[in-house]
Amino acid sequence: MRLSVLLLFAVAAALAVAQDSQSKTDPKFVAPPDAAAKENPLAGNAEAAAGGKKLFLRSCAECHGENGTGIEDAANLQTPEVQKQSDGALFWKVTNGNVKKGMPPFARLPETQRWQIVSFLRALKPTKEALPSGGNPPSSPKRR
Ligand code: HEC
Repeated sequence: MRLSVLLLFAVAAALAVAQDSQSKTDPKFVAPPDAAAKENPLAGNAEAAAGGKKLFLRSCAECHGENGTGIEDAANLQTPEVQKQSDGALFWKVTNGNVKKGMPPFARLPETQRWQIVSFLRALKPTKEALPSGGNPPSSPKRR
C-alpha cells in the first residue's frame, strides 16, 4: 500500500519535470486555426529555403542563432514542439510576433519572404541538444 503511494508521487514528480522541460514559449502564443491551416505556396521549393536562410540570418539569427537553436529567451526553432507546428502556424507567428515576450512581428516583410523563411525553418535539422532527452530524432516523414 505505502509503496504504491510512493510510486504515485514518483510518477507525478516525473510528469511535472517533463512538463517543465517543454518549450519555454508562451503557451498563449498560438496561431488561430484558419491561419494554421494555410499552406506554404513555396513548399518543397529548395530555392525558397535557400533565400529564406539569407533572410533568417539577416532578421532572426541575432536572437534565434544561425541554426535556429535560440539565444537566451528566444525559442529553439529545431525542437519537436516547433517543428510539429504547421507551416501556416509558423507563418502566423513570424507575421504577428509576440511582442510582450520579445518576439517582434515581421509583417513588414513581403509575404513571399515570410514563406521563404518558413521553408528555411522546415529545412532546419534538429541537432542532438535540441531533442528532449538527447535521444534519437523523432521519426518524421521524408521531406522533399
Ligand atoms: C529580438 C529577438 C528576436 C528576433 C529578432 C526574432 N525572434 Fe523569434 N522569438 C523571440 C522570442 C523571445 C520568442 C519566444 C516568444 C514567446 O515566448 O512567446 C520567439 C519565438 C519565435 C517562434 C515561436 C516558437 C514556438 O515555440 O512556437 C518562432 C517560429 C520564431 N520566433 C521565429 C522567428 C523568425 C523566423 C524570426 C526572423 C524573421 C524571428 N523569430 C526573429 C525572439 C526573437
